[in-house]
Amino acid sequence: MQVYLVGGAVRDKLLNYPVYEEDWVVVGATPQELTKQGYKQVGKDFPVFLHPDTGDEYALARTERKSGKGYYGFEVYAEKDVTLEQDLIRRDLTINAMAMDQNGQVIDPYNGQKDLKQKILRHVSPAFKEDPLRVLRVARFAARYHHLGFKVAAETLELMHSIAGTGELNALAAERVWKETVRALGERSPQVFFEVLRQCGGLADWFPEIDVLWGIPNPAKWHPEVDTGIHTMMVLEQAAILSDQPVTRYAALCHDLGKGATPRENHPSHPGHEKLGVPLVEKLSRRLKTPTEFERLAKIASEYHLHLHRLEELKSKTIVKVLEKTNAFKQPQRFEQFLQVCEADFKGRTGFEKRDYPQAALMRKALERCNQIKAAEVIAQGYQGKKIGEEIHRERVSAVKKLLSEQNPEASILE
Ligand code: CTP
Repeated sequence: MQVYLVGGAVRDKLLNYPVYEEDWVVVGATPQELTKQGYKQVGKDFPVFLHPDTGDEYALARTERKSGKGYYGFEVYAEKDVTLEQDLIRRDLTINAMAMDQNGQVIDPYNGQKDLKQKILRHVSPAFKEDPLRVLRVARFAARYHHLGFKVAAETLELMHSIAGTGELNALAAERVWKETVRALGERSPQVFFEVLRQCGGLADWFPEIDVLWGIPNPAKWHPEVDTGIHTMMVLEQAAILSDQPVTRYAALCHDLGKGATPRENHPSHPGHEKLGVPLVEKLSRRLKTPTEFERLAKIASEYHLHLHRLEELKSKTIVKVLEKTNAFKQPQRFEQFLQVCEADFKGRTGFEKRDYPQAALMRKALERCNQIKAAEVIAQGYQGKKIGEEIHRERVSAVKKLLSEQNPEASILE
């Protein structure tokens, strides 16, 4: 029996990327031979085993043929006579279809090394279409390697287009779609994931609320890029610079969903889009089965991002209301993520990328001042029951008023 390193580990070694997971293929062995050597069989559908010492995954070389819709409709053949080349040809991309033997020799029947050099994401064979999730995988790899100059091959994009056209993306399980999406959100250029999906007509299946944003205009004075879809991608790009957290990036992606629901006759203005976006965030998040923290932050971002932009026009009372409504006192970390989304929104416009966003710093100070007001002290003053909360609120408002007058003495006189 021969053992080869395969898949992402070979690709990332050749790219000089860190390798987090090593997958192996075993050629010329039976399950019995492996279990005899101490390997533990996992997975009922595929002959996959765990190495007794390293815990790495070892799979018997196999061929697969799709026999129905969905993930489990596969006919798997993994007898001893399956060759390495047969196993590699069923894989998604040429750069993922290379193997390495124990001497470090690369086995590359489908020119993965050439595509790595030319920075092309190209499917190996028509077998690509047997797993529609690969459409999302390609988009994710495009997001990961975008900064290196990788592009999706024209013929692969065409194939992705035809897969999207069959409606097969809809048949994917939400859990698999979310797993790819959250990984894509964590990649270096997450916006490219959504751009590639849109390019192949595969965005509307799972992300219709995002897909409709293209073609919706904004006032050119505030948004030189005009288009809401383009703006959303720019915001996501900025969010990825400000934070490596998928939850923050997801909220950036969702902050303007309401613009897809404002009456056309008001365009390019979008009065009320902040609140209109909230049920749309909910719909998208429930379809994707996101963890609740993703949905919560995205809803806050949708509802309150304009408050932050206009912070300097707000009354102290309203600023405290924003802090209270967003639960900033109990969830300061999430509030910080919200501030990053607002900053990404501000910067995610043509010509605004390098501008300062002083609102975030001011809001942090407001929170800090309000945090100095302690319930115990209010109680010690003799307040009871409902009155405690009211007094805390009142003191917060005067603390913010004081802060604003320090920042800008003239503005506070107007208030
Ligand atoms: N693979 C595939 N089609 C899929 C999933 C996986 O062809 N739908 C193959 C590819 O050869 C891939 C390998 O199985 O390289 C391992 O898959 P996985 O661990 O999911 O991805 P990696 O390529 O290792 O990428 P990552 O670095 O994102 O884990």
